[in-house]
Parts: sequence; C-alpha cells; structure tokens
Amino acid sequence: MAPTNEQIAAPKKDTPTFSPNKVTVLFVLGGPGAGKGTQCANLVRDYNFTHLSAGDLLRAEQDRKDSEFGDLIKSYIKDGKIVPMEVTVQLLENAMKEVVEKDKDHKGKFLIDGFPRKMDQALKFEETVCPSKFVLFYDCPEEEMQKRLLKRGKTSGRSDDNAESIKKRFKTFVETSMPVVDFFQKQNRVIKIVATKTPDEVYKETKEKLEQRLGKEF
Ligand code: C5P
Ligand code: MG
Repeated sequence: MAPTNEQIAAPKKDTPTFSPNKVTVLFVLGGPGAGKGTQCANLVRDYNFTHLSAGDLLRAEQDRKDSEFGDLIKSYIKDGKIVPMEVTVQLLENAMKEVVEKDKDHKGKFLIDGFPRKMDQALKFEETVCPSKFVLFYDCPEEEMQKRLLKRGKTSGRSDDNAESIKKRFKTFVETSMPVVDFFQKQNRVIKIVATKTPDEVYKETKEKLEQRLGKEF
C-alpha cells in the first residue's frame, strides 16, 4: 500500500535513548590542545564521572579490524575535518549504553569530551541520545594550544599533532566548532574556563564553577 500524504509529511519523532532526569551529560569543549582530556581525568577521579572522548572513540574505531569506517575516519582526522556525525553519535551512544548496562547502579554521569564539534552533532545527539546539562568550555589562545600540541606530538604518535594538521584543526575549530559554543551560550548553557594557566589552576576554576552550578554533591 502506498503511504498516505500524512505519513510522508509526518516528521520522524525521536525520543532520546537516555532521560536527562536519570543520566547527566556534560559536554566538554575547547580548541585542540586546550586541556580537555587533562581536566576530564581530574573530574573522573574526584566526581566519579565516566569520560568518553569522541576523538578517542574515533581513533579506536579507525583501528578496529572490521570497521567499515576505518579509512574514512583516518583521512578526516589527518585533515582536521569533522567526521560525518552519524558515525560519532553512534559510537558515543554505544559506549554510554555499555556503561549503563554493565553497572545498573551507575548514576550515569558522563563527560562527553570533544563533542559536539559541529551543529548537526549537537542537535542529533540531544534529540536522539540525551540532552546535556551544559557545556564546560576551555578557552585558550591558539599560540598556547599550538605549543602544547607540538610538544605532545613528540610522543603522542597521533597523525594530526603536526604543524600542518594543527593549522587545519584550528580552522575547523573557529569555523565549525565555535558556533556550537555560541549556540549553547545563547541558551545560558556554557561554563567558560580560562585554560591558559597551569593544569592545577585550571582545575581549581573548573571545580569552583561546577560546584557553583551543581552544588557540592553531584
Ligand atoms: O578531540 P580530538 O582532538 O581527539 O579529535 C581528533 C579528531 O577527531 C578531530 O580533529 C576530528 O577530525 C575528529 N573528531 C570529529 N568529531 C568529534 C570529535 C573529533 O570528527 N566530535
Ligand atoms: Mg583529547
């Protein structure tokens, strides 16, 4: 039977997989080398968050033997471009499901690091996976981030910690990812943190601002 007009026109309505009443999601954003991963590790230690880095999940998928997306991810990462969002959103949702299913008592507190980096990722994730509470945004000038990335590149083995890729990643950040920060800012959902200081100092500000917003027990 042919679909009726109504069926064709009806927008696909998705209910998020996780309820924001049960699961806490904080997005962690900032340019490459702003210190997102470092600060997430501190928050995991002190507040029992689960840390999911979109970049780490993409690199793991890239290296997975049977992945159909391996080559695609590899070329996007090297060029500092944003991988098509379906791939990244699915990897995050799978990782979240695994954590929640494994540990039924898990309070479901997630730091989603390096995501969303593009508006389509933001909208898709909040619509189909879980609305986030807010964004932790690490603000750092490019000169400082470049210095950190080149230093990290000596040992990271990452295909994108080199001068040429770094330049492309900065361009993507300014053109594609900052609009996401601005979008959440307009909804008063951004906690901005100065990320130029030492890791300890940056963490102090992170804790203070988080506790201001969420209370001491979260
Ligand atoms: O966050 P990280 O620097 O590890 O990300 C590395 C690369 O992974 C990005 O430059 C981009 O190519 C890809 N990525 C993406 N979408 C995200 C996060 C990372 O395409 N949300
Ligand atoms: Mg990182």
